[in-house]
Amino acid sequence: MKQSPILIIGKNGKTGARVNQRLQSLGYKTRAVSRSTSLSFDWENSDTWRPAIEGTHSAYVTYQPDLAVPRAEATIKEFVQLAKDVGLEHIVLLSGRGEDGAQRAEEILKTSGLSWNIVRASWFAQNFSESFMLEGILDGELVLPAGDIAEPFIDVDDIADVVVAALTETSHRNKLFEVTGPRALTFAQCIDEISDAIGHPLKFTSIPVDAYINALNEQGVPKEMQWLLRELFTVVFDGRNCEVMSGVEEALGRPATDFKTYIHKAIESGVWNPLMQKKSA
Ligand SMILES: NC(=O)c1ccc[n+]([C@@H]2O[C@H](COP(=O)([O-])OP(=O)(O)OC[C@H]3O[C@@H](n4cnc5c(N)ncnc54)[C@H](OP(=O)(O)O)[C@@H]3O)[C@@H](O)[C@H]2O)c1
Repeated sequence: MKQSPILIIGKNGKTGARVNQRLQSLGYKTRAVSRSTSLSFDWENSDTWRPAIEGTHSAYVTYQPDLAVPRAEATIKEFVQLAKDVGLEHIVLLSGRGEDGAQRAEEILKTSGLSWNIVRASWFAQNFSESFMLEGILDGELVLPAGDIAEPFIDVDDIADVVVAALTETSHRNKLFEVTGPRALTFAQCIDEISDAIGHPLKFTSIPVDAYINALNEQGVPKEMQWLLRELFTVVFDGRNCEVMSGVEEALGRPATDFKTYIHKAIESGVWNPLMQKKSA
């Protein structure tokens, strides 16, 4: 199996890039794709799927924009069927906790007849440093429609380690790993921990979801993304996902990375440097 490339859908994504780097350093060949790669893969264009899949036997699949969107179910169904027809044998699917749409997609994979793994993840810690929350942090104030609900944010490096284990260790086949960080924290607590670590004051402000969506609308954020963020901050972020789960330990035999360690790595990466430089100026 080491000879045929492992397909990675989401080459430059937060998890895809890390999975790609880890597999390559272990000596595996990879074929990492997204819309911008020379062999292009676009979830919106099923004509691009077959060339990406052909010649591969296992795949790491991240769906865009999110398995919660209503059209994801039909898309995943079509993709999994094609993958089977083309000869893919094993799919590791990145899923989200507490999302009905994600669970429907999981079911499609589990009942497909393919060998499978599901990595069902909590919110990513890296959302604070590599995604939509970074801008707020750099502005000194994160404004979100989230109150006192705690979330066990997971370090994306842990997700990548679990995905690589699932792709390369046959003893893990046909298992679901529900992966979270080791502590549930509210957004306000996360911001306090980041603020303490970087030595720069940061503020978290909770606003009503309608005000948040109106602001996104004024910024020209597409309607589907508005729908998704409303769904994530209301239906999904209602307390159902507070519980810490043991998926990282089950897959890797070690505890999940703490949020403080994540903060340390983010500081090292330089992503929050503009704030730290302000402090030392
Ligand atoms: N963020 C969280 O807290 C969280 C929690 C649980 C689960 N998830 C799930 O994680 C998945 C995302 O994984 P990730 O964070 O590793 O990826 P990511 O960082 O969101 O990936 C971004 C990449 O996806 C590619 N992309 C965008 N639209 C695409 C399309 N239509 N077809 C193909 N590629 C496309 C883009 O590359 P190109 O521009 O080159 O196409 C972009 O670089 C989503 O399914 C999300 O629901 C996220």
